[in-house]
Amino acid sequence: MRFYAVSGSAAQQRTDCAIVGLYESGTLSVAAAQLDAALGGRIARLVKRRDARGKAGEVLLLDVEAGHCERVLVVGLGKKDSFGRKQYKKALVAAATALARTGARDAVSFLSIEPVTETDAYYRGRLAAEAVGGALYRVPAIRSSRQPPAPPLKSFGIAVSHKDQKPEAERGLEHGRGIAAGAALTRDLANLPANVCTPGYLAKQARELARAYRSVTAEVLDEPELKRLKMGAFLSVTAGTEEPAKLIVLRYRGGAAGDAPVVLVGKGVTFDSGGISLKQPPGMDEMKFDMTGAASVFGAVKAAAEIGLPLNVVGVVPACENMPSGRATKPGDVVRSMSGQTIEVINTDAEGRLILCDALTYARRLKPAVVVDVATLTGACVIALGAHTSAVMSSDDDLAAELTAAGRRAEDRAWHMPMAEEYHDQLKSNFADFANACGREGGAITAACFLAKFTEGLRWAHMDIAGTAYLSGSHKGSTGRPVPLLMDFLIHRKP
Ligand code: BES
Ligand code: MN
Ligand code: ZN
Repeated sequence: MRFYAVSGSAAQQRTDCAIVGLYESGTLSVAAAQLDAALGGRIARLVKRRDARGKAGEVLLLDVEAGHCERVLVVGLGKKDSFGRKQYKKALVAAATALARTGARDAVSFLSIEPVTETDAYYRGRLAAEAVGGALYRVPAIRSSRQPPAPPLKSFGIAVSHKDQKPEAERGLEHGRGIAAGAALTRDLANLPANVCTPGYLAKQARELARAYRSVTAEVLDEPELKRLKMGAFLSVTAGTEEPAKLIVLRYRGGAAGDAPVVLVGKGVTFDSGGISLKQPPGMDEMKFDMTGAASVFGAVKAAAEIGLPLNVVGVVPACENMPSGRATKPGDVVRSMSGQTIEVINTDAEGRLILCDALTYARRLKPAVVVDVATLTGACVIALGAHTSAVMSSDDDLAAELTAAGRRAEDRAWHMPMAEEYHDQLKSNFADFANACGREGGAITAACFLAKFTEGLRWAHMDIAGTAYLSGSHKGSTGRPVPLLMDFLIHRKP
């Protein structure tokens, strides 16, 4: 997909399809009104007849002969007084989804984010490219029948009101294109079944990224090296499976050689059966998504390389399966982490924190400016925040605020949850330094408290994406989140 910016009125634009907005009140957007005048009041007539109601996400495709465009897509914007980033992105997703079913090869959007801010042109471009890229994404289906052909849409423009906004809009479009490419990689990896996407497959994909981009290098540590590093917690999770575990280190070099990197740590459990603390069958297939944290780290590194982010970023991905077997770790076993601290494994299904704690200890060697770990860590997080908002927990309130602000700007929301000394008591053990699991109360928070025992002295935040990483039901699949948030966070960091 090629993205571009244009200036000028909707009535003059040469394109296969002009996209204009209509509010629920029946008010035409400025561009829709301009086009309507050129079309002799055709859009207004549709509104008057109540054929077009402006409901959010509603689309109406008109064939037009006048002017330079062949089609007009009228997109419902919902209520005018609550219109913002969320509705803007939603309208573009609806438009792109409808466009993909037409023969249009090119389209230009005249939608705007209101109220207009100084960064309007940048985010209009970025969110548009992310929305269009996301809407055109197709699951890499493994089917016996032929794949449906790709939609003919090849280029997508956004219109800005003044020529001098074009550079900002183009910068936003370029960033959005890169972020969408990263999120598509995240979705591809997460959507693959666990019999394809194994730790070894993730390692291969890391080497693939390093081959594709000069700015990226990949290093893969195998089990003998993990043993040498004394990663007893990580190794205890992989003990039950035949698939070899990998620790994948992806380096993106965009800053100066000596610049301290931002380290992103991603949970890469390619299948979480629960281990000896076996999960219930309903929904167990969805535990192939338990490597989405890892996939979002891959996606962020790819996006960074695509847009040439001027920072150093290192992705650290502990990848393994969590399976029961005669060799599997048992509830009550005590393991020693790389940090030297011992852990009583109360529940083998609390495996994410066990692989992350050793990865976080490893991250210290990289002398990071900041460490952010991303994980589908707890069912409790899904109960707390549902499917729309990721959780952020941190010992550093400023860092948590940076991440939640990035989520608001990128329209990839996250919420700062508390993490205080009181919660740590729940992880007490009679047999080891602490336990890996405890009661259900505050489960997302106690998981973060567990990780905090390994991040002392680091500038660190934890993101629990258990609710936001993928959808269930008929739309089952990876969402590509939180790649937009992570990228916004990185883009706003001072080098
Ligand atoms: N991968 C799961 C968390 C999860 C649950 C992600 C639902 C997405 C949807 C994690 O490994 C897990 O099993 N956590 C346990 C922790 C508990 C045993 C302390 C959980 O949440 O039940
Ligand atoms: Mn688990
Ligand atoms: Zn898990």
